[in-house]
Amino acid sequence: MPLRKQINTLKLPSHVAIIMDGNGRWARQRGLDRIFGHQQGVNALREVIETAAELGIKYLTLYAFSTENWCRPDEEVSALMGIMIQSLNNETGTLIKNNIRLKVIGDINRLADDVKERLFETINLTSVSTGLNLVVALSYSSRWEITEAARRMSADVNNGTLKIDSIKEEDFEKYLTTYGIPDPELMIRTSGELRISNFLLWQIAYTELYFTNKLWPDFGKKDFYDAIIDFQKRERRFGKTSEQVLEK
Ligand code: FPP
Repeated sequence: MPLRKQINTLKLPSHVAIIMDGNGRWARQRGLDRIFGHQQGVNALREVIETAAELGIKYLTLYAFSTENWCRPDEEVSALMGIMIQSLNNETGTLIKNNIRLKVIGDINRLADDVKERLFETINLTSVSTGLNLVVALSYSSRWEITEAARRMSADVNNGTLKIDSIKEEDFEKYLTTYGIPDPELMIRTSGELRISNFLLWQIAYTELYFTNKLWPDFGKKDFYDAIIDFQKRERRFGKTSEQVLEK
């Protein structure tokens, strides 16, 4: 049976998060500069966004640039920023046409003014879209996000709008950059690395993890289908017993 037919569209993960890894290795394997890998990565990105929208997935979060990525060589950081601006220039029309809404999470203040301006323009232009929510993590790391949340929460305790004794998990979530977005049900990491690298640590408490050896530029529609099919075969227990889950 074709892969697409094996997907139960009534049991799609509402939110898929992706750690797009392996661009550098993809380029090096071909004797090319790492930047070519990132450029090629944009094609994979386009295909996966298209596939997610086609399937009717509501949220897709992509780890495009981590807080730690600021430490890469200057040329690579500026090339990545250039690719970002160019992608936004080229693809904003397609996002609007396909009813896709762009959102950004991360320490946006660290981005250069031209990147910020271009981002906010696309965010505003796509704000009326009601289809796929495309969340791009830029200058993002979970420890930054959680520290920032703790800082802002403490300020509210100080100014009396929040009482320490009444703080619940749901209150903490309001201070995270992902507030209003459901937790990912599926997280995919490419390139064979088996780690989370500071991505959505609070939000993935019960997320299904999927690792593939494919390098990000080689990851396409079929690979995305494979990940969803694998997800749909899993039993999600959320701490309960298998019997309790089946009783439902
Ligand atoms: C990881 O590969 C990839 C990145 C750090 C950047 C991902 C960016 C893109 C796919 C393009 C730009 C994004 C947008 C939203 C337009 P790596 O460089 O860590 O690869 P390696 O582990 O093989 O060195």
